[in-house]
Amino acid sequence: MAPKDDFGFSRRDFLKTVGVGGIAAGVAGPPEAGAQTAAVGPGAVPITLTINGKAHRLEVEPRVTLLDAMRNRLNMTGAKRVCDRGACGACTVIVDGRTIYACSALAIEMQGKNIRTVEGLSEGTVLHPVQQAFCEHDALMCGFCTPGFVTATVALLERNPNPTAEEARKALDGNICRCGTYSRVLEAALSAKGVKRG
Ligand code: FES
Ligand code: FES
Repeated sequence: MAPKDDFGFSRRDFLKTVGVGGIAAGVAGPPEAGAQTAAVGPGAVPITLTINGKAHRLEVEPRVTLLDAMRNRLNMTGAKRVCDRGACGACTVIVDGRTIYACSALAIEMQGKNIRTVEGLSEGTVLHPVQQAFCEHDALMCGFCTPGFVTATVALLERNPNPTAEEARKALDGNICRCGTYSRVLEAALSAKGVKRG
């Protein structure tokens, strides 16, 4: 279920159109104002990723995905790796307010962007309203898809706090649950209250 963004274009539509290989093509360094884009790599290059409001400096080869950078280098394992090819949504993160598949985005291209992950949702021991709703509606079984669903739901409710069931289904159609918890995920998404615009 792929969140249709303000342009009516979903994550799944995007991947069908471009393809993951297309995204990975043409690796370039971070753009600087007025400067021509310079090719970098193939060796490791220094990058800075802003994740949940905190800057992380690391060195990665330009081919490294955002998911690999977070999980393998920053020990941030909230976003899950399942298909690793933009098909399941387990790795969903929010970048500048829009959901993306972290497995299908290059870390180097995420510089200068505001990356949000499931780790950044709760405040101390207080769950985010969407996390709370997932607990209250028992919207998970094995839980492996859950961070992706929670993150996609947060992005939906931040731009549309009162979605219809159809809108919620469409917004989450980029996420797959192998345990089949879809009806409870939908219940949770429709019941979560108090989500502020991100
Ligand atoms: S692991 Fe990224 S979409 Fe499946
Ligand atoms: S709860 Fe098991 S994959 Fe969704």
